Amino acid sequence: MKVAILGSGQVGRVLGSAFLKEGHLVMLGTRDVNKAEVKEWLLQNPGSSAGSFADCARFGEIIVLAVSGDIAAQVISSAGISNFDGKPVIDPTNPIDHTRPPVNGVLPFFTSGEESLMERLQKMLPGAKLVKAFNSVGSAYMYKPDFGGEKPTMFICGNDEAAKSTVKEILDSFGWETEDMGKAEAARPIESLCVLWCLPGFIRGQWAHAFRLLKK
Ligand SMILES: NC(=O)c1ccc[n+]([C@@H]2O[C@H](COP(=O)([O-])OP(=O)(O)OC[C@H]3O[C@@H](n4cnc5c(N)ncnc54)[C@H](OP(=O)(O)O)[C@@H]3O)[C@@H](O)[C@H]2O)c1
Repeated sequence: MKVAILGSGQVGRVLGSAFLKEGHLVMLGTRDVNKAEVKEWLLQNPGSSAGSFADCARFGEIIVLAVSGDIAAQVISSAGISNFDGKPVIDPTNPIDHTRPPVNGVLPFFTSGEESLMERLQKMLPGAKLVKAFNSVGSAYMYKPDFGGEKPTMFICGNDEAAKSTVKEILDSFGWETEDMGKAEAARPIESLCVLWCLPGFIRGQWAHAFRLLKK
């Protein structure tokens, strides 16, 4: 598949390399293709390319929204709304309010419990098929996570069943077990998992973990 990664931060670069390792074609979308991190990533990932957000979104058969939650709508607008039409969009964003510090390790969100960021973005992109994934684990564990043989669980949701199947196949290849939690509204609790995941990090410096759902 042709995979468009919007954003050249930690998540964009980790997922870009992961898709490339799995045999996909990857373009990294960025405001500045001449940024040192982008140039270095291109050197370390031969066969990949970089372009503007719009070039990247046009290129992708599947799009990953690897940008800060507070400017995700801005990035979507500059990428061109019609470039998302009909495509699965993987959404790892979190609605973290960067204007306020964590309170006893609890990150503040700019959304309420009644609306997730993914629902907002899905409304902005009615022709796209958003799937929440990769938001509640650190970038170091997104690809082939090694927890001593136990597969962690990635909670996903979205309104389009085919898009979720595509994301599940990707997660299988990346070494994850997938739990489909239903439609877009389920992004509310899934986005909250990011707060829980970060808590041990903020209060005792522990960042090496992932969630697993135990079932009978
Ligand atoms: N870091 C993690 O471990 C982790 C884990 C799970 C989920 N997430 C979520 O994944 C998303 C990406 O996180 P991240 O840590 O990779 O990076 P980030 O620092 O949140 O930003 C990623 C990219 O967003 C773009 N960006 C930033 N400000 C912008 C602006 N004003 N206008 C346009 N683009 C802008 C930049 O791309 P360019 O500089 O290339 O233009 C930047 O590299 C976030 O929503 C985060 O909450 C992160």
